[in-house]
Order: sequence, then structure tokens, then C-alpha cells
Amino acid sequence: MGYDEKIYQNPMDFDGFRFVKSNLAKSNNTNNEEASSFVDTSDTWHFFGHGKVTCPGRFYSSTLMKLVAVHILSTYDMEIVDKAAPRSKMWRTTNNPSKDVRVIFRPKA
Ligand code: HEM
Repeated sequence: MGYDEKIYQNPMDFDGFRFVKSNLAKSNNTNNEEASSFVDTSDTWHFFGHGKVTCPGRFYSSTLMKLVAVHILSTYDMEIVDKAAPRSKMWRTTNNPSKDVRVIFRPKA
């Protein structure tokens, strides 16, 4: 579903601001919807499941993932050793970070 062009524009391209933009559009009331959050679920967003079996741990994991990301980004400067190396690998229907990519972490000065 995440690779369906009818749902997501240029689905195979990494766009770190993909959902930020759609949330901004929504919060500007262009379609009278409230901005959505990472833990919302919908017919087209199944990261945490949907309906009766929606993940109850999604609020905890969402907050934890953001805290870890903020900690890493504010503590280290990072550099990919081989910039041309493939960064991800497909496994079944999921696109996962490649374990072969080496990254240097340097504490921020
Ligand atoms: C990034 C982290 C997580 C992801 C991606 C995730 C994803 C999911 C998904 C997709 C489902 C629905 C499965 C289905 O359709 O049958 C689910 C269900 C569930 N998750 Fe998570 N989950 C995460 C973290 C957690 C955590 C931290 C907890 C508990 C502390 C948790 C507890 C559960 C439980 C109990 C269910 C079953 C809900 C039910 O059947 O009523 N999950 N999760």
C-alpha cells in the first residue's frame, strides 16, 4: 500500500517531509480536516494496524522513537562511510535499512 502511486505520489522516492506537507495542508484547512498525527490510523495508513486490532502500544513507541531520534540528532554528527552503497534492502514487502552501511558517529563539539 505504501508503494501505491494512487495513494502516495512518487512512492519509491524518499521524502522526509512527505507527511509534514500533507499535515500542513490539512492544518491550513484546505480540505476541512484536522492535521493527522503519526499514531492515527486510516484505510491508507496501516503502520500500526487499523480497526479493532490497532496497536495499543503506538503512543508509547511513537514518543520513544521521536525521543531517540532527537537524542541522536542533537548529540552526534553522522557521516556515511561509503556514500554510494545501497542504504536499504527489500525483504518481502518491507524496505529495511541495510546492515552493511557503515556510519561514523562523532560527538558534537
Ligand atoms: C514501532 C513499534 C510498533 C509497531 C510498528 C507496531 C505495529 C503493530 C501492528 C501493525 C499491529 C496490528 C496487528 C494486526 O493487524 O493483527 C499491532 C498490534 C498490537 N501491538 Fe503493536 N506495534 C509497535 C509497538 C508496540 C508496543 C511497544 C506494544 C506494547 C507495549 C504493542 C502492543 C500491541 C498489541 C497488544 C497489539 C494487539 C492489539 C489487538 O489485537 O487488539 N505494540 N502492533
